[in-house]
Amino acid sequence: MLSCQCDKVILRLLYYKAKETFLHILILGSGGREHSITWAVKQNPKCTKLSCAPGNAGIAKIAACIELNINDGQHVKEWCLNNNVDLVIIGPEEPLAYGVSDILKNANITTFAPSKAASKLESSKLFTKEICDSCQAPTAGYDYFDNKEKAIEFIKKSKFPIVVKADGLAAGKGVVIASEYLKAKEAITEMFGGHYGQAGNQVVIEEFMEGEEASLFVLCDGENLISFGGAQDHKRAFDGDNGPNTGGMGAYSPTPVLTKEIEKKAISKIIKPCLSEMRKRGIPYEGVLYAGLMIKDGEPKLVEFNTRFGDPECQVLMMRLGAQALDLILATCEKRLGNAKITWADDHAITIVMATKGYPIKYDKGSKISGLGNTSENSNQVIFHAGTKNHGKDIVASGGRVLNITTRASTLKEAQLRAYKIIESIDWKEGFYRNDIGWRAL
Ligand code: AMP
Ligand code: GLY
Repeated sequence: MLSCQCDKVILRLLYYKAKETFLHILILGSGGREHSITWAVKQNPKCTKLSCAPGNAGIAKIAACIELNINDGQHVKEWCLNNNVDLVIIGPEEPLAYGVSDILKNANITTFAPSKAASKLESSKLFTKEICDSCQAPTAGYDYFDNKEKAIEFIKKSKFPIVVKADGLAAGKGVVIASEYLKAKEAITEMFGGHYGQAGNQVVIEEFMEGEEASLFVLCDGENLISFGGAQDHKRAFDGDNGPNTGGMGAYSPTPVLTKEIEKKAISKIIKPCLSEMRKRGIPYEGVLYAGLMIKDGEPKLVEFNTRFGDPECQVLMMRLGAQALDLILATCEKRLGNAKITWADDHAITIVMATKGYPIKYDKGSKISGLGNTSENSNQVIFHAGTKNHGKDIVASGGRVLNITTRASTLKEAQLRAYKIIESIDWKEGFYRNDIGWRAL
């Protein structure tokens, strides 16, 4: 009898060991962020099978790309159950807002992503403001409106510039910094007129904050958190921070603007109080939390939360973390962050986005990209694909942001020089990029 019990225990231990050692991982998304996560996770021997839905031409070289509607939780769940998936990593924000992680977690599928309720920290600007109010986290003063006329009345008495924001998800486009009354009125009219769909049913109007922006990333397991440190994005399309706002034209990590002291302040005054308020409300946050900060006179204020990795910030973090990324993701899912550690090398990573000419306004798809094979990829340099697909024997652009040239070196300057050298070897006439990624830190 005793021996039978022992056998069972041994079998169970072997089962867990096997589960831990042989993981089939599914990554949801199709951008450079997801390519970099796939690349990092694949280096960890715990990952033995890797799938990505829907993926792209770059991801297809290192993982099986699957046709799945990633916003349909039932569809994803069935695929996971039929294919023995052990871990799902959700890249973009849409599946979170559709509650995909809730459906997967309810089916006992380990999932690295916050719940739908917790991801309101990104999907509702008003919700985040209310959380900040409840715990007195520093952020811009604001008012909110569910009616156009009242919002317009409000801006008649406001100081400019002012920031007008659609409450909901608007693919990064629902924020207008209005320098004067007519611009603010136009933004309000567009938002209530359905320009951003339902996202504009409520509008938040904020005081304009001056300062320098940085992104801080933390992992949270509901109770504990661990900081990933910072990265800095370049939001404008053209050199010198000119041109329209984009999803991000390049990033680097670490970033000197986010000193240890400012990071500590941001964690103690903004992130910890907000996470504890979420716990109090019964919606503990699990996953990666991205705090957009505005820093002035050594004091950080919250611009926004995102409930996912930034894109392209993720690419530089993944390049610096490598295989560790999977251990940290597992520690988050298994609520072990209290004992987790990140080992950073004394290194710098940079990523330069190559986008299709015309991005972010109007651009064609389908142009051929050559020369990608000229770069030998290794742990210090990779061309992550953000919007590509295979077309016969060719690789063609299938989106606005298309390639992320990502390098790592002992100095930012060296990483930057190498990344621009790689760009010279890529033959893609329809593409463009910024020449000054990293300028603030250099
Ligand atoms: P968000 O989508 O909230 O990150 O806003 C997009 C960008 O608009 C931010 O990265 C900032 O550059 C800018 N922004 C948003 N809110 C403010 C604010 N209150 N003051 C100054 N700039 C802001
Ligand atoms: N790079 C900005 C974002 O991911 O929202």
